[in-house]
Amino acid sequence: MENAILQLSYLIGSITFILGLKMLSHPDTARKGNLIAAAGMIIAIFATIFLYEYTGGEGQPVRLHNYGWIFGGLIIGTVVGSFAAKKVQMTAMPEMVSMFNGMGGACAMLISLVEYNKPEVKETGTMIVIALGMLIGTVSFAGSMIAWGKLAGKIKDRTIPGGQVINFIIFAGLITLVVLVVGGFLPEMHGLFYGILALAALYGILFVMPIGGADMPVVISLLNSFTGVAAAFGGFLYNNPVMLTGGILVGSAGTILTILMCKAMNRSLKNVLIGSFGGAKAGAAAGNKEQGNYKEISLNDTATLMAYAQKVMIIPGYGLAVAQAQHTCHELEKVLTDKGVEVVYGIHPVAGRMPGHMNVLLAEADVPYEKLMEMEDANDQMGTTDVVLILGANDVVNPAAKEDPTSPIYGMPILEVEKAKHVIVNKRSMKPGYAGIENELFFRPKTSMLFGDAKKVLQDLVSEMKQV
Ligand code: TAP
Repeated sequence: MENAILQLSYLIGSITFILGLKMLSHPDTARKGNLIAAAGMIIAIFATIFLYEYTGGEGQPVRLHNYGWIFGGLIIGTVVGSFAAKKVQMTAMPEMVSMFNGMGGACAMLISLVEYNKPEVKETGTMIVIALGMLIGTVSFAGSMIAWGKLAGKIKDRTIPGGQVINFIIFAGLITLVVLVVGGFLPEMHGLFYGILALAALYGILFVMPIGGADMPVVISLLNSFTGVAAAFGGFLYNNPVMLTGGILVGSAGTILTILMCKAMNRSLKNVLIGSFGGAKAGAAAGNKEQGNYKEISLNDTATLMAYAQKVMIIPGYGLAVAQAQHTCHELEKVLTDKGVEVVYGIHPVAGRMPGHMNVLLAEADVPYEKLMEMEDANDQMGTTDVVLILGANDVVNPAAKEDPTSPIYGMPILEVEKAKHVIVNKRSMKPGYAGIENELFFRPKTSMLFGDAKKVLQDLVSEMKQV
């Protein structure tokens, strides 16, 4: 009976996880989906704590009993996790995800460590799962910690001379160690297993270290999928279906997200992992190029232009997130709407620095979801738009992606703002964005530059607008 309840709780955990994941795909249901998945997982966790039985030293079934440790860990983890998640700034979200993901990798690593040290004889299948869980979990843990350190500004990007060759040698070493350990070829050398731990940690560090800071979301998503796979190995070890389902879903969701991000940036994963995109080279190339003439627009003229427009499209980018200007942006939208202007937002899939960055940011400011146009729809509406207001976006509106085959972003779909009547670009200077390249749009006849910090400019624009 108790085993039936335990299995039922695993079924509930798995179903709610799948359901929750499905609900995450729409902002209206995302919050509920998250709660449903978490509730299912809590049921599965408590059922495991109180009902799970394993075979003890004398061959008899034993329940978990070290409740002090279990609940101590649960309470500390819950307090730290909830506090960190409540306190985190939207711009620091990727680094928190990275830190939490690293903890998942560390768990997988510890599971392998504990299982390896159990005295009973293990089958080859079990050894494969233990060794691979150790390898992947450790790479994910070490890599995520470096990613966290880089995003938090505590660790600098560092290219190691011959890094790719060194990484390849380490990887080959890791595979050799796994084969030796699993095959039991050197049974007296227990240290080999700890060799996997050491080399995997080194690999995780060296693999993430040279990757450009802004490419980190892709790497975090990749590491996230590694953690999922490592957790799935844990599910195999403990014959635990909910851990297996959860691990596989995280693994596949992370992989899909990684592929989607690369596609939306029109870059291969290999290029993200070993290319120095937006690094020194691209910056130098931009510097060599002759800058054209651009024209500026005053706050007053901007306010007038927008107030007398029929339709305004706001295009947010990374700069809006940096300036934390989402609330002021929503205020501007309301003032314009009150004046009878139709306002929509054009959202590029990779605007900002993480998937759904702009959607999350604008949702935080209570911008109605129906006002957010996905890129294709936004481009369809561009021809009927009077004013496009670009707030801290750059690469996602760069026409070079369509026109210049030599550009590193060539082929990336963009928001085709030039189809609108007027284009106003707000940023602080003429500096390039993430890809480190010049943007021709700023020098085109339809474009006017409105310089300044997005939040300050929007605040001034709102007060100016109220007087128009
Ligand atoms: P970017 O091309 O990075 O441009 C952002 C612009 O914002 C900069 O040119 C900057 O110019 C301006 N800015 C910065 N702080 C500002 C402030 N306080 N006020 C006003 N402007 C400010 O951003 P984007 O157009 O959103 O494009 C995103 C880029 O990130 C793409 O290249 C994309 O491939 C990449 N990326 C995205 C993701 C995801 S999943 N979203 C993941 C990895 C990489 P100034 O310095 O002159 O102000």
